[in-house]
Amino acid sequence: MSDDLLREDISFDEIIDRRSQSSLKWTKYKDPDVIPLWLADMDFRVAAPIRDAVRRDTDFAVWGYTLPSIELKEAIAAWLFREHGWKVELDWIDFIPSAVSALYLASRICAEPGGRVICAPPIYPPFRTITAKAERVGVEIPLLRVGDEWLLDFEKIEAELKLGAKLFLFCSPHNPVGKVYSREELDTLFSLLRRYDAWLCSDELHSSLVLSKDKQHIPSAIAAGDYFERTITIVGPGKTFNISGLGVSVLIIPDASLRHRWFTVSDGVIPHVDRLAYLATHAAYAEGREWYLKLIDYLRENREIVARRVAEMPHISMHLPDATYLAWIHTGETIAGIKPAPFFEKYGVGLAPGLAFGDDNYLRLNFACPRSLLIQALDRMEEALARMS
Ligand SMILES: Cc1ncc(COP(=O)(O)O)c(C=O)c1O
Repeated sequence: MSDDLLREDISFDEIIDRRSQSSLKWTKYKDPDVIPLWLADMDFRVAAPIRDAVRRDTDFAVWGYTLPSIELKEAIAAWLFREHGWKVELDWIDFIPSAVSALYLASRICAEPGGRVICAPPIYPPFRTITAKAERVGVEIPLLRVGDEWLLDFEKIEAELKLGAKLFLFCSPHNPVGKVYSREELDTLFSLLRRYDAWLCSDELHSSLVLSKDKQHIPSAIAAGDYFERTITIVGPGKTFNISGLGVSVLIIPDASLRHRWFTVSDGVIPHVDRLAYLATHAAYAEGREWYLKLIDYLRENREIVARRVAEMPHISMHLPDATYLAWIHTGETIAGIKPAPFFEKYGVGLAPGLAFGDDNYLRLNFACPRSLLIQALDRMEEALARMS
């Protein structure tokens, strides 16, 4: 790492207008005054070691086909062990440009054509659409809202497994509700999967973004015990280190024959991971921890602000997400007779409508942005709701 970058202060307060980058998040709204809080990427500059690694390589400027290095795999394994106590073997690790493509491949490989694949909405929208693209049948078993909790509906899951579903597309921690699954819930899930001989594809992209100090992410493969070879896990630096635009996720596939099938199906269809993405991933896991710890503190504080302010507003409510930088806000289907997302957009805040996630009564708000921008957005939401009541 270069000396100037080592000395750099880490600040998440800087407001960075990302429109000039053709940012998907920032160019969605015609009105440039709308604060975009809808998409799941962060409005923060990446950690200095990542910038430095990419800068060194752009100076070198030779970008031929590149393999992931052993050192990269070692850095990922070390991160997973330190953060989550998970010992993965280097052979289990592979890479893919998009986690969504991994959900697609898992559906094709673990379920027969026309076979049933389970997911639990409300959920990140591609979980609901990818199985049809993979020519499998998506079965939605909604999470149950019990008091303040979101719970898996084990009765319905078992009924589906009994009917022959062979794959569960699982999101842990869960986007958008921010749930961290307990050991007990994972044990129950695995007892069912084992009974019916089914696979679990566990999307754990948000696993390093646990904000509640009393909660801990448990990798599905650990909870699986000796059933771990029936798991496929997706982790990656995209969410945690804000490099989703580089296109890289990490696959952990312990079963050798599944790895072989995976390679056979994906080879020539799924593109290689970009060389700069490998370098950024290595720098993130090997040298990004200082930035990461500061990020978690910042997000934790933003989460408290959102929860406190929403609790003071009429007509809407939310629970505290234990993980992710996403707040899942209950609105009801309309506010003043208008759908909630266009309602808040009119007042200058861009939020993600819940419909695509499977519940039109909610909006998703991304609080991974500079605090002053977040407060401005919350002020606008409060004013909007005050005007109608
Ligand atoms: C749970 C989850 N999985 C997958 C993705 C998308 O990953 P990728 O861009 O690697 O396809 C997201 C993005 O928000 C996500 O939240």
